[in-house]
Amino acid sequence: MKHILVTGSTGTLGRQVAGLLRTRGADVRGLSRRPGQAYQGDLATGAGLDAALDGAGAVVHCASDTRRFGRSDIDSTRNLLATASRTGHPHVIFVSIVGVDRIPYPYYRIKLEAEGLIDAYGGTILRATQFHDFVLGGARIAARLPLVFAPDVPVQPISTQDVAARIADLVDTPVPGRAADLGGPEVLRAPEVFRSYLAATGSRRRLVPVRLPGATFRAFRDGAHLAPANPSSGERWSDFLTARFPATGTT
Ligand SMILES: NC(=O)c1ccc[n+]([C@@H]2O[C@H](COP(=O)([O-])OP(=O)(O)OC[C@H]3O[C@@H](n4cnc5c(N)ncnc54)[C@H](OP(=O)(O)O)[C@@H]3O)[C@@H](O)[C@H]2O)c1
Repeated sequence: MKHILVTGSTGTLGRQVAGLLRTRGADVRGLSRRPGQAYQGDLATGAGLDAALDGAGAVVHCASDTRRFGRSDIDSTRNLLATASRTGHPHVIFVSIVGVDRIPYPYYRIKLEAEGLIDAYGGTILRATQFHDFVLGGARIAARLPLVFAPDVPVQPISTQDVAARIADLVDTPVPGRAADLGGPEVLRAPEVFRSYLAATGSRRRLVPVRLPGATFRAFRDGAHLAPANPSSGERWSDFLTARFPATGTT
């Protein structure tokens, strides 16, 4: 049986993807820079990629240099695809973000350029809206200040399990080019999402919705990052919060 390579298998989404594909019976190998992974390798330098891709039937490309806003992502994607082209040309599924072509945010520009590489290779691009965990991270950072500033924009958070399920379907039934954008089950306002986080953690801090200037914020405000036409039927934000914070006062 050919294996499925999951890049970024130590990440928020990659962990879910690898786990789900395994439960469906696939031979899944993870790639990460950390020792102890099935394949230790560095996409940015290309180290370890030949071994990781040798015998791969499909690749789910979840890795991203998120801590440095995608700085090495173009080199990484190029290296991955160049090696894949030499080693049997497996199907590649790339995880992107809804609105990368409409929001002039630097990380999104990098994602869009990476999408172009995937498209030229003949892979599949799946754009998703913001993950629950990502929105939670934003709320946590905002809640460190005595006044909790929340961007006054809509948000359509989705669970990584739902994104992983869609990816697993795309592994089974490849779609050429861009798959339909995938959004969370409901469109909410970021201030109400942050407020629910404060309530779930027992915080009494005051929340202040903020309206920021600039084209990027305007695009977010206009909902360019949403996929209202294709909501998932999976976990809602409120259920995610309840699962994460079963007892008030936990952070
Ligand atoms: N966060 C969101 O709301 C959201 C929404 C839609 C789409 N996405 C996309 O979904 C993907 C996954 O996001 P995430 O939040 O799961 O990311 P994450 O938790 O930050 O994980 C990033 C992963 O990339 C790996 N990685 C980074 N640089 C690498 C390199 N040079 N070589 C090998 N591995 C490398 C990391 O592995 P090691 O550090 O172990 O090497 C880690 O496993 C990204 O492409 C992101 O743009 C995210």
